[in-house]
Amino acid sequence: MKHHQITGKTSLVGLIGWPVSHSLSPRMHNVAFAEIEADFAYVPLPVQPENVEQALKGLAALNFVGANVTVPHKQAVMRYMDELSDAAQITGAVNTIHIQAGKYYGYNTDAHGFIKGMEEVGCSAKGMRVAVLGAGGAARAVVFALARAETDSIVVFNRTAERAAFLVDDLADAFPDISLKFEVLAADTLAGLDNAVDLVVNTTSLGMHPHIDTSPWPVDVPVPRSTIFYDLVYNPIETVFLRQARAAGLKTIDGLGMLVHQGAFAFEKWTGRPAPVEAMRQACMSGLALERG
Ligand code: ATR
Repeated sequence: MKHHQITGKTSLVGLIGWPVSHSLSPRMHNVAFAEIEADFAYVPLPVQPENVEQALKGLAALNFVGANVTVPHKQAVMRYMDELSDAAQITGAVNTIHIQAGKYYGYNTDAHGFIKGMEEVGCSAKGMRVAVLGAGGAARAVVFALARAETDSIVVFNRTAERAAFLVDDLADAFPDISLKFEVLAADTLAGLDNAVDLVVNTTSLGMHPHIDTSPWPVDVPVPRSTIFYDLVYNPIETVFLRQARAAGLKTIDGLGMLVHQGAFAFEKWTGRPAPVEAMRQACMSGLALERG
């Protein structure tokens, strides 16, 4: 791994969240800065919820170039932004901040990362009929991304139907031309898809470490034919959900590409230079391997 010396001239970015200790982002970005010899450093910034305002104002005071924002602060930081991207505004969450001349620009780079994760394996969302499993923050970014990419239709399946209804209601205004519906996440509703779906996306935490034996797709429901299964989970890279699809001969997309590309978008905002995507991917893979011990 290339090493970067921090000096008095180094530009700073960081990760605001609580907790931040398990994030792969510091490793991914520092490897990327070293790779292209950008004089930047990325530091963890653990911020308790009651200190969000002070922390946000402190970024400009400390001459930070920007930050990533993670759980639980993605909504709370919005009110301190001078400008919001469409993605941040419509999804109601900011995961990337860029500070220029004291002004705070808020972005949500997950939607971009999600689409790039598909494109890099040769898939286009345009015209697709999609089932999105889950209705949390990640699902919002995915539904926004799919709608912007001109999918044909989206059905949001969630354990808590009210939350899915709320999401659909929120995004329907921004995308009046796309068929957006919701269902409760259950064996009978998923069975009802009956092959009339091109893409199934898991945005729930089912299958994620440490609950690696779980899947949002019930074992007794056959997977639809000619469908792509896309899992946002990247730890582990091969989830039960993706294994179910592969066992039936379906194409699958794991969550690593989205992780890398959401980071690449932020990297390019901060540095103004193309992100070294392959170095970032390797950094994430080695970080995950280290975690597994
Ligand atoms: P994120 O911001 O990562 O999307 P989140 O907002 O906490 O995280 O959303 C988690 C999603 O996983 C939700 O859709 C949640 O369903 P509920 O809205 O019903 O809570 C879903 N989820 C988590 N655990 C689940 C489980 N055991 N069974 C089904 N869905 C689950």
